Order: sequence, then structure tokens, then C-alpha cells
Amino acid sequence: MNADDSQGLPTWGDTGTHCVTVTPLRERADLCGFFARHFEAEWPHWYGPARRGDAAADLDAWANRAGHLPLGVVAVDAGGAPIGLAALKATSIEAYAHVGPWAAAGYVIPDRRRGGVGALLLSALSIEARRLGFAAIYCATMGAAALLAREGWRQIDAVAHDGGTQRIFRRAVPGPG
Ligand SMILES: CC(C)(COP(=O)(O)OP(=O)(O)OC[C@H]1O[C@@H](n2cnc3c(N)ncnc32)[C@H](O)[C@@H]1OP(=O)(O)O)[C@@H](O)C(=O)NCCC(=O)NCCS
Repeated sequence: MNADDSQGLPTWGDTGTHCVTVTPLRERADLCGFFARHFEAEWPHWYGPARRGDAAADLDAWANRAGHLPLGVVAVDAGGAPIGLAALKATSIEAYAHVGPWAAAGYVIPDRRRGGVGALLLSALSIEARRLGFAAIYCATMGAAALLAREGWRQIDAVAHDGGTQRIFRRAVPGPG
């Protein structure tokens, strides 16, 4: 992974040929509709028709031009195709309302998974958290625990959620330089 100082967010390439760039969603608000459709398909219990979540509204909020929370980062491949997105939000689960911000809504399109894009999005969220002055970020996950552990996140708790176990992770935000 290379730091791209002009953007403040990383770029990453596998074998030097398939370069993936991560940029703030606020600079690519045109991609909100694309990811809203993918979110509805990935999380129908939350974003499906007549459900509580509103994918278009969430993405719109994460694309706020001011760059404050909540915000999104988006991964685009070398050909300009959108392939992943993640959000940084002030709050997540009720039991941990006192800490934040939270990495959330990590999403990579199915045929680009297991190629490091999820890890890249997490790194980009760390950089955004640092820009906003946070010392650590948190994540509550049921499905991405292995990825977080590999990326150096520390599990600090596990809580019952929706008939399963949600693991709570924390990662210190790297300092400048
Ligand atoms: C979770 C998600 C965002 C991860 O995205 P991803 O791009 O696949 O993430 P990465 O490629 O960085 O890492 C995924 C795995 O691939 C592995 N991997 C990374 N590069 C690899 C490569 N070149 N070859 C093989 N495996 C690789 C990672 O080690 C990791 O393995 P692990 O989970 O066993 O630790 C993606 O699977 C997704 O969108 N899932 C559906 C939505 C979801 O559940 N989101 C989580 C919300 S908390």
C-alpha cells in the first residue's frame, strides 16, 4: 500500500497491474446510487423494501461535503469501476454509545472480494479518523472478525446480537508520519 499525499487516502495495487484507489465518497457522490442498489441486495433485512433502513439516505449522508461524521470512502479500480465502500459513523451499538467513531457498512462487490479491498477501505477509514482528530476507531462485526484481526484490530468485547455474537474491535489510529 502506498500513501497518496495529494488525496490523503491510500492507493493499492496487486502485482502492480490492478491498482485500486480509495477516495472520500464526498468526492464521488455520483456513486451513491450504485452502492444503494448493492446495499439493498446485500442487506435486504435492513435496506429491503418496507424495512427500517434507507440505503439512499445513508449514502447521501456519508457523502456530506463538509467531511464530518458520518462519512464514506469508496474504492474504484484501475478502469474506474466502483468496487467497494465503507463508512465511519459516530455511533454504532447501544452498549458502546460512549466511544467512537465506528467503522461500518464495509462492502466489496462479490466478484472482487478476498483481494485486499476490504483491508484497504479500513486503512482509509483510519486516515479519515486521524484527519478528524480521533485516537482510535471501533468496529462491531459478526462477519469480518478474521479480517479485522489480521489488520491489527484488537477484540475488546463480544455481545449477543440478533441471535448471534457481535464482536467489538478497537484499533489505535496511527499518528502522522
Ligand atoms: C467483509 C468484506 C467487506 C471484506 O472485503 P474483502 O475485499 O473481501 O476483504 P479483504 O480481501 O481485505 O479480506 C478478506 C479476506 O481475504 C483475504 N485476502 C486478502 N487478499 C487476498 C488474496 N490476494 N488472496 C486470498 N485471500 C486474500 C484476507 O486475508 C481476508 O481473509 P480472512 O477474512 O480470512 O482474514 C466483504 O467480504 C463484503 O463485502 N462482505 C459482505 C458485506 C459484509 O458482511 N460486510 C461486513 C460488515 S461488518
